[in-house]
Amino acid sequence: MSDSIIRIPEEEIRRQQGFADAFAALPGRPETYYIVTYGCQMNAHDSEKLAGILESMGMRPAGDKREADLVMHNTCCIRDNAERKALGNVTWLKEVRRERPQMLIGVCGCMVQEPGMAEKLLKQYPFVDIAFGTGNMHEVPEMLCRVVTERKRVVSVPQNESTVAEGLPIRRQSDIQAYLTIMYGCNNYCTYCIVPYVRGRERSRASSDILREAEVLRNSGVREVMLLGQNVNSYGASGGDMTFPQLLDHVAALGIPRIRFMTSHPKDLSDELIRVMADRPNIMRHFHLPVQSGSNAILKAMNRRYTREKYLERLSALRAAMPDIGVTSDLIVAFPGETDGDFEDTLSLTAQARYDSAFTFIYSPRTGTPAAAMPGQIPPDVASRRIAKLIEVQEKNTAAAFESMLGQTVNVLVTDRSRRGKDEMTGKCERNISVNFPGCDSDIGRILPIRITAASHTTLRGEKIGTA
Ligand code: SAH
Ligand code: SF4
Ligand code: F3S
Repeated sequence: MSDSIIRIPEEEIRRQQGFADAFAALPGRPETYYIVTYGCQMNAHDSEKLAGILESMGMRPAGDKREADLVMHNTCCIRDNAERKALGNVTWLKEVRRERPQMLIGVCGCMVQEPGMAEKLLKQYPFVDIAFGTGNMHEVPEMLCRVVTERKRVVSVPQNESTVAEGLPIRRQSDIQAYLTIMYGCNNYCTYCIVPYVRGRERSRASSDILREAEVLRNSGVREVMLLGQNVNSYGASGGDMTFPQLLDHVAALGIPRIRFMTSHPKDLSDELIRVMADRPNIMRHFHLPVQSGSNAILKAMNRRYTREKYLERLSALRAAMPDIGVTSDLIVAFPGETDGDFEDTLSLTAQARYDSAFTFIYSPRTGTPAAAMPGQIPPDVASRRIAKLIEVQEKNTAAAFESMLGQTVNVLVTDRSRRGKDEMTGKCERNISVNFPGCDSDIGRILPIRITAASHTTLRGEKIGTA
């Protein structure tokens, strides 16, 4: 790791473990916890780390948040509605607490790292007992000890954002699929995006730490590992000791049945990465490659650092090497200054890209980002019309992709019962599309060949081979 990235010293991790042990021995301390998670995979995985820390303090999960002694909200602030939802739910809990005064209410995650948010929580949310940012989760034992023994509110946002904590406990949600963080933060500064401000500078974990964790997961029988980072393709540019394709190749060589990764920035998608994927059948045939816009003028204003042409060229290179690959995307409509012509470019790119699916968003101004101060903010009615049109175009892509899969046999990692009940199972195929099929609980955790027989709006249906 480079000098500017500070690995939290082992003594500090041990010191926190001391607080965890002390907490466990406190008479009348909170016994149960409940974590409400908002946002992306990064946050979902942070919640697994938080659960691991809380359990190392002797706490256990509560079945219902109304009954928990500590309710943590792991927040997201990527768009205004994400933030409003989290704050609304925190406020609602205040009412629940009237019945159970011993309940502690906590807020953590990206929103807490927003400039000014710590002060806002202190002033306007006096019922919040504990709040901390994404960068100081390892201090939870110490903070909670203070909340409980000193009966004080603790609001703490880290000063130094360039840290990486290793050796923390993790309470994983699934023993079939696991997240594995390879890097933290983001240096890309897309002009609309708040992530670099709330997640800090890009920091790569040491490859030895990543590979050790991957090995432990493999040995425990995990079927699928997802490597996580805001821009996995720049792994190594910020302190790691190899490139992302090299790291991916090493992880794949460990023999875990399925490897996925998220998210890739189109400007950094290298031929080397395409080669590694094509050579390793256990790297899944799915690529999430957010384009954001199909207009070169808007891409420039977004600071995305690629053109429509370059994006489409990368897509062709991917498909040339792996014709069966499924590609998905994120798209933003109504970025400031987006003309009808710019929007038409997004529609035509979307049609051309033939995405399996795409997340579509209306641009949401985030205070402190350059785009929030740009002229030409788009009225909500125009934005709504545009997103509806975009969704229509993408739905045609999805229908065409699903249609082309009818009759094919795909490998499905079975993860759950489907919503239909105990006789129908669900899982993802290599392209990351949900597939439902008649089956039983003993299928869960297995990778089964399924013949696709029908397609609905968002899922495929099929049957086990040999049982038709
Ligand atoms: N690091 C990833 C994902 C970041 S957040 C990447 O670069 O692709 C996930 C998606 O949220 C982004 O891809 C973008 O489409 C969307 N997004 C981010 N900021 C937004 C904003 N201010 N308004 C609307 N959508 C936004
Ligand atoms: Fe945000 Fe851009 Fe970084 Fe993704 S790459 S997290 S969109 S700044
Ligand atoms: Fe949201 Fe933070 Fe993820 S802002 S999208 S939870 S990185």
